[in-house]
Amino acid sequence: MKYWKKLSATEQDARITEALKENIDFKQNTSLGIPASKLDPIVFHDEAAFLKDTPLLRCYVQNPNHIGCHTLGDSEAYFKGTQQIEREVIALLCTDVFKADEKSCDGYIAAGGTEANMQAVWIYRNHFMETYGAKVDEIGLLSSEDTHYSAAKAANIFNVRRYTVPVNKTSRKIDASGLEKIISDAIRDGIKYFIVISNMGTTMFGSVDDPDVYSHQLEQHVVQYRIHVDGAFGGFIYPVSEVASNINFANPNVSSITLDAHKMLQAPYGTGIFLVRKGYMQYVCTEEAEYVSGMDITLSGSRSGTNAVAVWMILQTYGPYGWQEKINKLLTRTGWCCKELTKAGIHYYRHPQMNIIAIHAKYVSAEIAVRFGLVPDTHTGSPSWYKIVVMDHVEMEQLKEFIECITTNAVPA
Ligand SMILES: Cc1ncc(COP(=O)(O)O)c(C=O)c1O
Repeated sequence: MKYWKKLSATEQDARITEALKENIDFKQNTSLGIPASKLDPIVFHDEAAFLKDTPLLRCYVQNPNHIGCHTLGDSEAYFKGTQQIEREVIALLCTDVFKADEKSCDGYIAAGGTEANMQAVWIYRNHFMETYGAKVDEIGLLSSEDTHYSAAKAANIFNVRRYTVPVNKTSRKIDASGLEKIISDAIRDGIKYFIVISNMGTTMFGSVDDPDVYSHQLEQHVVQYRIHVDGAFGGFIYPVSEVASNINFANPNVSSITLDAHKMLQAPYGTGIFLVRKGYMQYVCTEEAEYVSGMDITLSGSRSGTNAVAVWMILQTYGPYGWQEKINKLLTRTGWCCKELTKAGIHYYRHPQMNIIAIHAKYVSAEIAVRFGLVPDTHTGSPSWYKIVVMDHVEMEQLKEFIECITTNAVPA
């Protein structure tokens, strides 16, 4: 691990205090032109005593704007202290978690997984158009039927045609012959360029796609393709739980990755993460953004620098070993629950390295679903699956009670 180290609260405070000093101080510096300021001091008291011990809240009060991407080109100088912390988060994730070579990737803290997935589709669509002269109707978006609906949003917004790949209904793996048929159909439709969204933890099942299955088949057809990995859910679990993972930048087939710190990392909402190999961000440079210092190459404009600091704090608080232990704990609980379901003959899907259990709806009464807050795969029709996501707050006692209820089909009052 080059960047990922465990730091004490005191060490973190010192680092954040230093970063905030390097940002603009609206009280001390004259800044007549920037349309930004710290949080309203009448509403958010910046002298409150508790702020002294809470560097994250001091950062909220200072309210740094991290507009732009800080891993390439210039950035707004007013917030350079906390931008550096964002750069450290991106370097840590690319290098220590996703096995990229030093300084070989760009990235930024996006609003969420949806934005990060869209950023990828936007980049590759423009890349195909600028580099290969592709027409927009020659670009297809390929992803599995278990993919998050942000793929459908992205296809709609960027006007690329979406192709849905079937999965095996037992293993939830990409159905290789189904993929072959979809690619052939797309090529017959005139598609020559493929953007792939490959999953590292699907929303409903936690299933994981092998990106090499996509690349193998697309290479057979001798077409241009780029693979984006949606790790919004699994990105902070799978690289830790599966040591032999091929879903990282050591795999030349993977070009970019989405993560969501506001899911498994329990960061505040508004902390998606987009990571991409160098050489791609430039395809979405908005030339018109002339008043912003540095290039505007992110889907969202202004964004809170405090979110980057929050992600940095979580990662440094746990350190790599602490994080591994936390994931192990959740996987142990998931494993226990699965073992009990198996004993009771209840059918479910679980990827062995993930903390989601999708249970066939026929075993779940409406009372049990409500009592235990299970999430169905649909809220409009009749559900086929209900899922348990073993997050930090899901304790063994609750799982035990759930198992007692589902195996006896009795819900205590
Ligand atoms: C796999 C996956 N991708 C993308 C998203 C979208 O993330 P967000 O809600 O942060 O935009 C989700 C959200 O549940 C998800 O599970």
